[in-house]
Amino acid sequence: MILVRDIRKSFGSIAAVDGVTFEVHRGEIFGLLGPNGAGKSTAIAMCTGQLAPDSGSIEIGEAGSPRAAHARALIGLAPQQIALYDELTARENLVFLARVHGMADPTRRADELLDMVGLLPRARDRVATFSGGMQRRLNLAAALVHNPTAIFLDEPTAGVDPQSRTAILDVVQRLATEGRAVIYTTHYMEEAQRICSRVAIMDRGRVLAIGTVAELIAAHGGESVVTVDSLAGEHRVRTREPLREIERALAEGGATAVRIEQPDLEMVFLALTGRRLRD
Ligand SMILES: Nc1ncnc2c1ncn2[C@@H]1O[C@H](COP(=O)(O)OP(=O)(O)OP(=O)(O)O)[C@@H](O)[C@H]1O
Ligand SMILES: [Mg+2]
Repeated sequence: MILVRDIRKSFGSIAAVDGVTFEVHRGEIFGLLGPNGAGKSTAIAMCTGQLAPDSGSIEIGEAGSPRAAHARALIGLAPQQIALYDELTARENLVFLARVHGMADPTRRADELLDMVGLLPRARDRVATFSGGMQRRLNLAAALVHNPTAIFLDEPTAGVDPQSRTAILDVVQRLATEGRAVIYTTHYMEEAQRICSRVAIMDRGRVLAIGTVAELIAAHGGESVVTVDSLAGEHRVRTREPLREIERALAEGGATAVRIEQPDLEMVFLALTGRRLRD
């Protein structure tokens, strides 16, 4: 559905995207992860046609069908910078977009989407009066007005509360279940771990690792840590076979508590991209 091959983009001396290749199929949520400045938004801007790549190729649509003409209609984008008209109401924003896209019944479409992101009760309020989380949800709805099949969501949960986040993640998962291809960026690793079928970890314009979360954890996550508490004290073991270690501790007797810390995507992210702060 989305085929990206060796795309590059420089701004002056900064190679923002420096040879990125990946593909995303229908039904997938593909996580594009990386520290600030890694090149995620620049890659998305090229995929969605806002920015021309210096080199490389991007194909969106079914294999063999030419890009251009109808590709734009296939693409939905929720940009990192919220793109809504502040002075219009929530409904007016979506009706306007539905008209731009030539949807048959703009008002009905707007209300379907408002309902999906839980904003129907606020349909008649101006966006300027919305909280950050409400604006994020409307920004997501705006990306979906024309029923796109290749959907790019750039930090759709940045700065939202747990309720909004859950609502947004539900919508995103539904999009994949419906057979759409979703590219998703986030700095919340637990979120990516939860919803992404595959992820790419980028830094400095390059992809450092790509695969399922389980594959990346197995390759870069390090070992589990098993901690066994007993009357004699605490005993910590690093192991790739935590269950065996727990069995052993229980067989020995005297264990009062057993804890297991398994490597997660956050550990993979830090292992690959380091701990140094980005500017
Ligand atoms: N229009 C531009 N002009 C100059 N430099 C740019 C431009 N857009 C992006 N860059 C630079 O390209 C690099 C990648 O930026 P990009 O916004 O793609 O990163 P990101 O991975 O989306 O980061 P974040 O997680 O902070 O959103 C950064 O060094 C940024 O300063
Ligand atoms: Mg970005």
